[in-house]
Amino acid sequence: SGPMTVDVRSLYKELGYFTYDPGFMSTASCESKITYLDGDKGILEYRGYPIEQLAEESSFLETCYLLLNGELPNEKELEEFEESIRTRSMLQEQLKTFFLGFRRDAHPMATMVGVVGALSSFYHEDEDVHSQEDRMDAAHRLIAKMPTIAAWSYRYSKGMPFVYPKNSLSYSANFLHMMFSMPSEPYTVDPLMEKALDMILVLHADHEQNASTSTVRLAGSSEANPFAVIAAGIASLWGPSHGGANEAVIQMLTEINESGKPISDFIDRAKDPKDRFRLMGFGHRVYKNYDPRAKIIRKTCHEMIAENTFSNPEHKKLLETAMELEKIALEDEYFVSRNLYPNVDFYSGIIFLGMGIPLNMFTVLFALGRTVGWISQWNEMMGDPGSKIGRPRQLYTGEDKRDYVKIDKR
Ligand code: ACO
Repeated sequence: SGPMTVDVRSLYKELGYFTYDPGFMSTASCESKITYLDGDKGILEYRGYPIEQLAEESSFLETCYLLLNGELPNEKELEEFEESIRTRSMLQEQLKTFFLGFRRDAHPMATMVGVVGALSSFYHEDEDVHSQEDRMDAAHRLIAKMPTIAAWSYRYSKGMPFVYPKNSLSYSANFLHMMFSMPSEPYTVDPLMEKALDMILVLHADHEQNASTSTVRLAGSSEANPFAVIAAGIASLWGPSHGGANEAVIQMLTEINESGKPISDFIDRAKDPKDRFRLMGFGHRVYKNYDPRAKIIRKTCHEMIAENTFSNPEHKKLLETAMELEKIALEDEYFVSRNLYPNVDFYSGIIFLGMGIPLNMFTVLFALGRTVGWISQWNEMMGDPGSKIGRPRQLYTGEDKRDYVKIDKR
């Protein structure tokens, strides 16, 4: 009686076979208590709380606490957590020279991969990945330092002086301050922009076993240093099929506008199986219904349009093209039949544009939000006594055994 359970590991040991599942279309790589996702129904929950409620009610730091600890904090717990993050936002001063070693025009994602990885050289000997306390230490450090690293990567790429964190500000306001403050003129953070950014960070905070999170788990499964592990996650996120899509959306809209060709040409290309061109910001591996994050952020995007936030005429043109694409894709048989809805990156790209965030910082902001998800998943894995080093198998399709041929005989 009761549900029948199959121990896949012992099946493999006894029968010696394993599954072949390219792209992990139907293979779970772990158990997790962090994020629940139902792609068919369009449901996303962090620790059981619906994303819609968290986006509306919670702050990014409160969501970080929830993801890391499993429960929403009470007032005292939140205060202590915020204080812990605030007091760790500075970088070791030597790291400044590390930034200076990059090419001036380096993409901020490239700089971030390097700098976050380099943090492992500061925090290694005294960090035990098997100690919950040390893991939380690393988690707080990463969440706290990421905005500083992100903003400094941008400032360096523009040849602008670094701005130190101002710990009287909120997490999101502090990031905007480090991005946009100038020594000559005081910068006041726009509260609407602060709120929009905080909400976007909440929406990006975790998304179970996506490519970058799976990278983090695989890299961490060898008991590697957490800062090096998160650098691996940032590298995976950078690709245009994943977090790089928000930047690619704007590049695509620009290409469409500059080409002078009708949008239908691009739609036809996206449908052509021989053409590698895809509509950036459309489709999702698991959401075969509308991405609930896209639903929330779409509302913000349309509010910004209604409030005339896009005053820059170039941005306005990009926005018009985006809205035309959205309409076509929601009606076109090809996109409808394949459930290729606009995803969260489609709208976040447009919102960042309206907020005046530079294009090469779009994916960086995704990384900023996702850091807590990566580190929560890593912490969960390291705390599980049953976890193992990740070691996928392969189906070998190469040559049969053959003898070495001396070079003069080839
Ligand atoms: N434009 C045109 N056609 C598409 C698109 C697209 N954006 N996405 C998928 N398709 C088509 C495929 O050609 C395929 O068609 P077929 O059935 O005729 O062969 C079908 O839809 C299924 O596509 P797959 O590639 O099998 O879907 P997969 O789940 O592997 O890919 C992915 C998901 C990578 C997100 C894909 O939709 C894509 O490349 N989208 C554009 C990039 C993007 O926006 N990425 C962000 C993802 S969300 C995130 O990271 C937060």
